[in-house]
Amino acid sequence: MTNKNNRSGVFEASVAGSEHFGEKICRLKFVLSGEGADAFKLASPGEFAQFQVEGLALPSNLPEGLEDRAFRQPILRRPFSFLDIYPYGEDMIVEIMCDIIGTGTARLSGLRAGDKVSILGPLGRGFAKPEKGKKVIGIAGGIGIPPVEHFLRQLCRDNPKQECFAFAGARSRADMPIASVQQGKNPENQEYSFCKHFAAATDDGSFGDKGLVTEVFESWFAGAGLSPADCEIAACGPEPMLRAIAQTAHKLGIRAQVSLEKMMACGIGVCQSCIVPVKSQLGREQNKLCCKDGPVFDSREVFAE
Ligand SMILES: Cc1cc2nc3c(=O)[nH]c(=O)nc-3n(C[C@H](O)[C@H](O)[C@H](O)COP(=O)(O)OP(=O)(O)OC[C@H]3O[C@@H](n4cnc5c(N)ncnc54)[C@H](O)[C@@H]3O)c2cc1C
Ligand code: FES
Repeated sequence: MTNKNNRSGVFEASVAGSEHFGEKICRLKFVLSGEGADAFKLASPGEFAQFQVEGLALPSNLPEGLEDRAFRQPILRRPFSFLDIYPYGEDMIVEIMCDIIGTGTARLSGLRAGDKVSILGPLGRGFAKPEKGKKVIGIAGGIGIPPVEHFLRQLCRDNPKQECFAFAGARSRADMPIASVQQGKNPENQEYSFCKHFAAATDDGSFGDKGLVTEVFESWFAGAGLSPADCEIAACGPEPMLRAIAQTAHKLGIRAQVSLEKMMACGIGVCQSCIVPVKSQLGREQNKLCCKDGPVFDSREVFAE
């Protein structure tokens, strides 16, 4: 299956490795060859893929509280953004971070090196590159962290002079999908070492500041001496967080892109399960689809002033 721009399709990926961080989070690495590699060479941060979980076995060690839910048979594919995508010889490696919350994510977490999985992708519209010379501030919460991390890393890979700042929030340390945090290391010296500044917040204070990541960002920005006109924001996370970021961005006059986490069934614009009401700059209201027109939108479209 291929989409209209002849880029995405259904491909078989081999699991190159999986790493578990506590009970809830795992990082999965997939290898794509041939047409799959060609398609994913063109993928960009913020886009996503639909992973087939039907037919995958459940692992024996399920996170506490998931025992009943995990035994349901998942029919639909599950959407995941990318933590990273990079070449490996002629092949492409696609990495995802998985928060194990139900039957599909539990099944993915049981994958081992050499297993095969069907992936539909790359799908959607990812983060747009910033205007030349603009600094990029990534603000992300929970499973919104991987695509923002991917975006910032890719920008710095493409342009070593790109200035990036990162803010990550989660309920607690155990819920933060950052490998170094789970390993008890400092992200500033690890995967976020390319950033000029990294800060984190958790609801319970188990990592970073206690409170909301949006508050941590706001107080940092107030003292950072940056001009709003020189900055752009890229954000992903739960809707209330994105709304708060959009309000702050509009107030300060910073351009912001937000990646929405809508429930998705087909992922390709057919089922209409992911409608996002938007408002154009002329005030015209219309419905867009998160899977096809997003998941990344201009904040003014989805959270009008
Ligand atoms: C564009 C996009 C990118 C995503 N990227 C990632 C990622 O990088 N890493 C990651 O771990 N997860 C990501 N997700 C979320 C992931 O798709 C869901 O967590 C997953 O589909 C749940 O499947 P499950 O079978 O394990 O859970 P289910 O058994 O289907 O559901 C478990 C519980 O989670 C709720 N739930 C399921 N899907 C969502 C959702 N999309 N938003 C809010 N609540 C949901 C259900 O209502 C239910 O209460 C992304 C979602 C989208 C739309
Ligand atoms: S998920 Fe089916 S139309 Fe978007």
